[in-house]
Amino acid sequence: MAQVSKPIALGNLPRSVLGEGPIWLPESNTLYWVDILGDRVHSYRLTNGHVGTINIGPYPSCVMPNEDGNLVVTVKDKVLLINPHNGSTLRVLATVNEPPSNRFNDCKCDPEGRLVAGTMDMNEMNPTGSVYVIDPSFGLKRIMESVIISNGIAWSLDGSLMYYIDSPTRRVTVLRYNRREGVVEGAIRHIDLSSYPGVPDGMTIDSDGYLWIALYGGGRVLRVNPVNGEVAGQVEVPAQYTTSCTFGGSSLTTLFITTAMDRSRQTTGPDGYVFSVETDVRGTVVNRCRF
Ligand code: BGC
Ligand code: CA
Repeated sequence: MAQVSKPIALGNLPRSVLGEGPIWLPESNTLYWVDILGDRVHSYRLTNGHVGTINIGPYPSCVMPNEDGNLVVTVKDKVLLINPHNGSTLRVLATVNEPPSNRFNDCKCDPEGRLVAGTMDMNEMNPTGSVYVIDPSFGLKRIMESVIISNGIAWSLDGSLMYYIDSPTRRVTVLRYNRREGVVEGAIRHIDLSSYPGVPDGMTIDSDGYLWIALYGGGRVLRVNPVNGEVAGQVEVPAQYTTSCTFGGSSLTTLFITTAMDRSRQTTGPDGYVFSVETDVRGTVVNRCRF
């Protein structure tokens, strides 16, 4: 088992309606995450306890660092470059042409510094979503289509495979990734997680190449060997709507897990807080976007 403590709710940090997309920036010892339905991007600097909040407007769905220390944030149908100090928009990096009932959802920078970002049907029913790649010269390319709720994205440690989740399928798809061109070249296999509660949502990869996958509605994070699909461990979280996770802390062994409130927003438990748990594995550092 890779978990060495019980997850605890970080009750001193802001609570989210739909907490999502945690990332850890080692240079500043800072955790960032978004509250998609609370319209905010939050940060927490572990070394001095400083909490920052940027009010961004509707549906900030994902936050990534760029090379100059600014933030790339996907909002409803746009990708923005944001100044982390005052929250101002420095530039609109891309706009996608999507049905009004769609919005951006999870994203990640690829090993070459492009942004890979997916969209979803906000009614969570129709396959109207896509996955886009925005390259450092701001070129926009659609690399996948007909997805319902585009979610977790990760690359194998050598960058040759992309792991991808369309939540309602309840599986992880392993795709060949052409790192030079920034395109996917077909599915190699699927990892079926339908025997676990909830639906797979956000994920991260550890330094052994295992995926850590949050199950939305399942109150847990699974550690999965992507080579054979075996579930090697799981962290049970005392909140049902676990949405995503990232490794952080000074030794990259703390797993931070974001959660959401239930849809009625009436919960009195710890749903919506960020949780942390100590593990005996090391995470990987998130890629930065090269724009
Ligand atoms: C989306 C939510 C959705 C959940 C489960 C999240 O990434 O932002 O709207 O309900 O995944 O599929
Ligand atoms: Ca998600």
